Amino acid sequence: MTQKVRLPSPFKLVTYDTIDSTNEEAKRLARDGVPSGVVVWAKEQTSGIGRRGRKWISEIGNLYFSILLRPDCSAFKAMQLSFLASLCMAENIKDVLPDTAIVNCKWPNDVLVEERKISGILLETQTLPQGDIDWLVIGIGLNIKSFPEDLEFPATSLTHEGAKNDICAEIMLELFSHRFLSNYKIWKEMGFEPIRKAWLCRVAWIGEKITVRLEHETLVGKFKALDKDGALILLDNGDERRITAGDIFV
Ligand code: BTN
Repeated sequence: MTQKVRLPSPFKLVTYDTIDSTNEEAKRLARDGVPSGVVVWAKEQTSGIGRRGRKWISEIGNLYFSILLRPDCSAFKAMQLSFLASLCMAENIKDVLPDTAIVNCKWPNDVLVEERKISGILLETQTLPQGDIDWLVIGIGLNIKSFPEDLEFPATSLTHEGAKNDICAEIMLELFSHRFLSNYKIWKEMGFEPIRKAWLCRVAWIGEKITVRLEHETLVGKFKALDKDGALILLDNGDERRITAGDIFV
């Protein structure tokens, strides 16, 4: 049975049984001029998109949604919202799993349970000529009932990690929207620092040796810190490298 989803104002929900990609639909709506706060949710996606052009397998039973926002800020600052979103998702996941579950945020914006990926975020923006944002779409996938087995990084789902059977996409979407809204207000009033601090309380692998896969090179070093803007600081043979995009592994 499908539950009614109630999102707090100013969110406005647009629901589909099947769509190509909720990010693509949110971008189409953004280009048509719909206001900030629209949330596109689909029960399944036929062409779900992951970071760096990867496919996001999107079977019925998991959560797929995209939030369209028009924050009054630069594209650079808007990237901080992916940390905010992964923090909110991690906190909600923690709330619905057994107390012993270890839930971490993996840089830049994945959520892991017991070192397996359970949620991923794809942030896309359109910038105006003077550098500010026209719109921003935060697309989020959460494995609830199933997870893909054949990925280079191991995955998991809420059910697999012991969540109760009644935990479903509707509940997780509602929980997320409330948590996101209160943290979004904090971000607007106080900036990135409180979000950064909270995210660091959940971070995976800080202080450890990691491999960082960039578009054209792979680096190995120590995950030293997260800087004030969300870049990863890697200590590589005594040199500090500031990394703003990539995939990390241990
Ligand atoms: C990642 O690669 O980790 C990011 C995955 C993002 C997937 C979500 S599912 C909802 C939204 N629609 C998409 O096509 N992608 C994002």
